[in-house]
Amino acid sequence: MKPFIEITKILAQQSLKFSVGLKTFNPCFFGESCEGACPKREKVKLDWKNLGFGYAVTDYNCRAFFKNGKWSEPTIFPDETINLSIAAQFIHYGQNIFEGIKVFEQKNGDITAFRPIENAKRFIQSAKACEMVPVPEELFMKTLDKVVQLNHRWVPPYGSGASLYVRPFQMGVEPLMGVKPSLQYTFIILVTPVGAYFKSGFKPGKFAVADDLDRAAPFGLGKVKAAANYVSGLRGTVRAKHDGYNEIIYLDCVQRKYIEESGPANFIAITKDNKYVTPKSSSILTSITNMSLREIAEKDFGMTVEERPISVDELADFEEVGACGTAAIISPIHSITYKDKVFTYGSPDKAGPKLTQLYNHIRAIQLGEAEDKYNWNYKFNI
Ligand code: PLP
Ligand code: COI
Repeated sequence: MKPFIEITKILAQQSLKFSVGLKTFNPCFFGESCEGACPKREKVKLDWKNLGFGYAVTDYNCRAFFKNGKWSEPTIFPDETINLSIAAQFIHYGQNIFEGIKVFEQKNGDITAFRPIENAKRFIQSAKACEMVPVPEELFMKTLDKVVQLNHRWVPPYGSGASLYVRPFQMGVEPLMGVKPSLQYTFIILVTPVGAYFKSGFKPGKFAVADDLDRAAPFGLGKVKAAANYVSGLRGTVRAKHDGYNEIIYLDCVQRKYIEESGPANFIAITKDNKYVTPKSSSILTSITNMSLREIAEKDFGMTVEERPISVDELADFEEVGACGTAAIISPIHSITYKDKVFTYGSPDKAGPKLTQLYNHIRAIQLGEAEDKYNWNYKFNI
C-alpha cells in the first residue's frame, strides 16, 4: 500500500476534516475505493439545462505516474493544478495526448459511460504514435472508475440534456533539452459537466471548407488524438468563428480534393438513396461515435454504409450532412461554403429525418431509453 494512502487512511480513521483552497473535504475520499467510505452527497446545484461546453472545477481528479519503468497506482487529487519542471518534454516537444468520454445518468438512475474501453484502446494507439509509454487498459479503466465514483454528484441529472465529460490525458514530463521521448509520464483524468459542443446544439449549423489550411498529413498524427492536431486546427476554428461559421471542414492535403473532417468531429452524409457515407482517410481520427453510428445505420435502420474517399464535388449531391463525435454527438449541418459556392441541406431550423433518427437512437442508448443490444454502456459502481 502507498504511504500516502496509509497516511490519509489514518487521518480518515481520526475523522479529521481539512481544507484545500476553498474546499473542505473528508480525507476518507483518499481510500483505495470510495465504496462504503463515501458519504452520499447531494448533487451539485447547477443550471444543467443551460450548460455550454466549458470547464468547471469539480471535486477531484485522478492521476497515475510513470517513472523508473513502471506505472503507479491511480491517486486522487482534490487540487486541479499540476507541478511541473519548466523543461518537461511536452511543454517544448509536444508529447501530449488526450481522450473524450461522456458519462450519463440513465433513466433508471444508473451512471454509465459510452464505450470507454474503445477510448482506452485508442489512447494506447495515440501513445504509440507519439512514442509515449502507453497507459495499460486496466489502469485507464481503474482510474476512470475512481474519478467518476468520486465526482458522482457532478453527473448531470437524467433529462437535463447535459453529461459529465471525462478528459483523460497523458504528457511526457521528463525534464530534457534534446528532442527525444520522455522517460516519465503523468496520466490524469479530469471530469467536468457539459452541455452541447456547438452552440447550435442539434440545430443545423454553418460550416466552411478550408482549401488553404491543413489539419493533418497522411503519414502524420491525424488518426490519433494528439494535442498537436488541435493546435494545428486552431487557425481554422478562429477563422470560422470570425466569419460566422461553426467550424471548418478540412480537405486532404495531397490533392485538396477529398473531404477529411472538421476540427473536433468526423464528417458524415446521407445520400438521396439512403446511404450513410463517411470519409476513409489515414489522417482523420478514428471516431467512436462514427463507428457506433455506422453500426446503428446498417443494423438497426437497414442503411448501406460506405466508408470511402468523398470528393468535395459530391457536396452538391447529399441529402443531409453532419459532424459527429463524443462532444458534438451529431451536429447537423445546414450549409457548407466552398470557395464561392454555398451548398445547403434541408431546413435551417430543423435537422433532416435520417440524422434525427440516428441522433435519437444513439441518445436513447446512451440514456438507457433504448435497449443497449451492442453492450456499449459501461456501468459504474456507485
Ligand atoms: N475527429 C476529431 C478531430 C475529434 O476531435 C473527435 C472527437 O473526439 C472526433 C473526430 C470524434 O471522435 P469520437 O467519436 O471518438 O469522440
Ligand atoms: C470529443 O468529442 O470528445 C473531442 O475530444 C472533441 C474536442 C476537441 C472537444
